[in-house]
Amino acid sequence: MNKLAVVVLAAGQGTRMKSNLPKILHRIAGRPMIEYVLDAVAGVSSDKAVLVVGHGADAVRAVLGDSVTYVLQEQQLGTGHAVLQARPVLEGRADTVAVLYGDMPLLLPTTLQSLVRTHQSGTAPITMLTCIYEDSMGFGRILRDGDGHVLGIVEEAQATSEQKAIKELNCGIYCYQAQWLWEHLPRLPVSSKGEYYLTDLVGIAVAQGQSVQAVIVPDAQETLGVNDRAHLSHVEGVVRQRIREQLMHSGVTLIDPATTYVEADVVVGQDTVIQPNTHLEGKTRVGANCVLGPNSIVRDSTIGDDCRVEASVLEGALLEKNVSVGPFGHLRKGAHLAEGVHMGNFGEVKNSYLGPGSKMGHFSYLGDTTVGADVNIGCGTVTCNFDGKDKHTTVIEEGAFIGSGTMLVAPVTVGARAVIGAGSVVTHDVPPDSTAYGVPARVQRKSEEKGSESGS
Ligand code: UD1
Ligand code: MG
Repeated sequence: MNKLAVVVLAAGQGTRMKSNLPKILHRIAGRPMIEYVLDAVAGVSSDKAVLVVGHGADAVRAVLGDSVTYVLQEQQLGTGHAVLQARPVLEGRADTVAVLYGDMPLLLPTTLQSLVRTHQSGTAPITMLTCIYEDSMGFGRILRDGDGHVLGIVEEAQATSEQKAIKELNCGIYCYQAQWLWEHLPRLPVSSKGEYYLTDLVGIAVAQGQSVQAVIVPDAQETLGVNDRAHLSHVEGVVRQRIREQLMHSGVTLIDPATTYVEADVVVGQDTVIQPNTHLEGKTRVGANCVLGPNSIVRDSTIGDDCRVEASVLEGALLEKNVSVGPFGHLRKGAHLAEGVHMGNFGEVKNSYLGPGSKMGHFSYLGDTTVGADVNIGCGTVTCNFDGKDKHTTVIEEGAFIGSGTMLVAPVTVGARAVIGAGSVVTHDVPPDSTAYGVPARVQRKSEEKGSESGS
């Protein structure tokens, strides 16, 4: 069979986080911590992981859905008791069981792979991951005999001062022969704290005359667990640095990596330059040859190739090719700027489309608006889309010219190539190829050009 099942422990209370949110749902670079752990699991098994939940189980279910198999540990009676809860769903289904924690998001898939490989190529009932680290972090110490054979694990609380000096630590990540595990888990002794320690299995195996293998993780940092907010911010820093290195490796220039904040799911194209103090968040996709920042926030947005976004905020926006925004632009949900659009300083666009080549240089607001190609939106133009009760739409057809300081009172349409005089308040539709001006705006008739007046 040689089949592997993975159990992830996450039932603990996480008391030191001082949070209403279950620990494994705290975000690191925009993703819940547990997702990093599940990524590592995916590197060794295509089956769903078995997640042992307890505190905050409903909240965990709401986030992870059916991407994992849940096992409830109603009372947290220790790590050994937690793994035992997975027995009914796993016994007879796999011949290797790997166990890891939901609060160790830095563990790399390659490390887990090498643990599994070592285990499956040997005969030991247990293969565990250890690390060598100056700061004990409260971890259990690995006891070895003079020949280097593993004898057991002693928890810090029970360790003698001599044992406390041991630098080899138990990371809490193991592979077991499944049958041996299910046979011995129910026989774990109860500790002085009333818990069943998974770590005691090592001593049990050794007492049976079996050998226990240990794989030493090359970088102890990978096994840092998150127990409090200080650990959380440390781990956040490591994850962000990994993301930045990946970006640079793939051909993205970061002018100042330390002030470049990119979340885990963001994709950035080659030869894009990210200037300092720029945040790329959520499901953001950025094309090639763009320049982003300085001082920009781009959230859940898609940016095409050759775009420029300077000192601006984009949320749920779509920029096609060669679009420039900013400084000080704000694109909100549903803003769609077609190829070649220029949006200058202090503009805001919400739920609106600007057609190819249209320009909106200064101090304008467009909401619920459709703009055709090659439209010029003069300085200070506002679509008055809200009447206090309902939202209304504005249409500005191709080639129109909107004079500075125009109020477009929606619902309203400005026809193709129409010209609106500066300072107009447009309350009625303006036909194509016409000129309108004034408050309220009136369409200029052909005869008017000779001097007579008429309304619109
Ligand atoms: C455990 C190990 C210790 C190791 C350390 C590495 C034991 C007895 N000790 O200690 O040797 O160095 O991990 O981090 O195993 N959990 C449950 N149900 C429970 C108890 C815990 O699901 O009843 C989960 C927790 O949510 C957590 C993980 O298991 O994710 C570890 O539990 P924790 O209490 O933090 O163990 P440590 O004291 O860190
Ligand atoms: Mg812990």
